[in-house]
Amino acid sequence: MTPAALSRLRLTDFRNFETLDLDLDTRPVCLSGPNGSGKTNILEAISLLAPGRGLRGAESEEVLRREGDAAATAWAVYAEARDTGGDTASLASGLLEGGRRQTRMNGKPGSRAALSEFLPMIVLLPEHDRLFAGPRADRLKFFDRLVSASDPAHGETLTAYEKLRSRRQRLLERGRADPHWLSALETDLAGHGVGLAAGRLAALSRLQDAIDTAQDDVFPKADLALSGLIEAHLAEGAELRDAEDRLADAFAEGRDRDAAAGRTLTGGPHRSDLTARHRGKNQPAGRCSTGEQKALIIRLVLAQAQSLATGGHRMPLLLLDEACAHLDAERRAGLAAAILALGAQAWLTGVEASLFSSFGDRAQHFSVESGAVQAVA
Ligand SMILES: Nc1ncnc2c1ncn2[C@@H]1O[C@H](COP(=O)(O)OP(=O)(O)OP(=O)(O)O)[C@@H](O)[C@H]1O
Ligand SMILES: [Mg+2]
Repeated sequence: MTPAALSRLRLTDFRNFETLDLDLDTRPVCLSGPNGSGKTNILEAISLLAPGRGLRGAESEEVLRREGDAAATAWAVYAEARDTGGDTASLASGLLEGGRRQTRMNGKPGSRAALSEFLPMIVLLPEHDRLFAGPRADRLKFFDRLVSASDPAHGETLTAYEKLRSRRQRLLERGRADPHWLSALETDLAGHGVGLAAGRLAALSRLQDAIDTAQDDVFPKADLALSGLIEAHLAEGAELRDAEDRLADAFAEGRDRDAAAGRTLTGGPHRSDLTARHRGKNQPAGRCSTGEQKALIIRLVLAQAQSLATGGHRMPLLLLDEACAHLDAERRAGLAAAILALGAQAWLTGVEASLFSSFGDRAQHFSVESGAVQAVA
């Protein structure tokens, strides 16, 4: 299957770009330029081709190009991507005059599922460098994004679960909720919760397989695990129905406590965590050095891309913001080799062109300067 790749990217009034028009082939894209030149903005624009808030979680108005007190009234990102048969598909996203956001594929409104099927993306940001040492919720969010890349329904289940969970919480905090009504809601909540946990476990096992079978030894192998009430129950071989009953019971028992705490302390999948151990060092990822943690997270991203392709999906676009920061020369060369071996169109950013020298002419190199982009020979 053809990897996801953009053959053209056009921006209009997007952040610090008045206009941008790039003609591309399927090779990886290396963007180098000084701080504040617009490198991350380009990755953000690509991430906004899918419905949602993109890699910075920005409101649509926020990305409108501003200059002094003046701001544009509409922004647009337009891309062409090759289809499996070699045909071109057009993708467009933007804020129309009048304040309406639109995402289109071949001129028609594009659903998240269609988009992520056609143009799957995996994002790695500088803040992920400390993912394993940082807050649990960030780690879980990162992992859920990875799961959603191979299973778009996962994102929808997560949204449904979170909606039901806050509805239950509101009812509990208001008091005097009808217990039958609450029970029905908790059954529904448990159903979505177990779906989430099962989706995560399946994705974790595919990811672990891809890590274990990776050919290179530049990036460390990690042993991954999911901790969580329901994940543990399912991992022991419990039937889905049993797990749903158990979670619904836990919610029913936890009502008073959750109401008093003002948050859902009951151990549903919102309280799970992803843990990783550096296999070579036999220590938790959170205790590894900055560069080792970066190498581990890159291993996860590469393995996820591989497992998507092995699972019959398209090789995703990799949006790797500052992926080379904290990597020594050997690991930078290893990253280039791994990306080329995957055949993915990775978009990499960095402050120096030399960070990408090991790609040679196997990548497309561009320099970015104050919202203008130039091809580098
Ligand atoms: N809505 C906007 N309109 C105009 N300029 C903006 C807007 N939002 C952000 N910018 C500016 O865009 C510039 C480029 O930002 P970007 O994050 O892409 O830089 P970068 O090249 O990734 O830099 P770094 O190497 O520091 O990460 C910044 O100076 C930022 O202030
Ligand atoms: Mg940046």
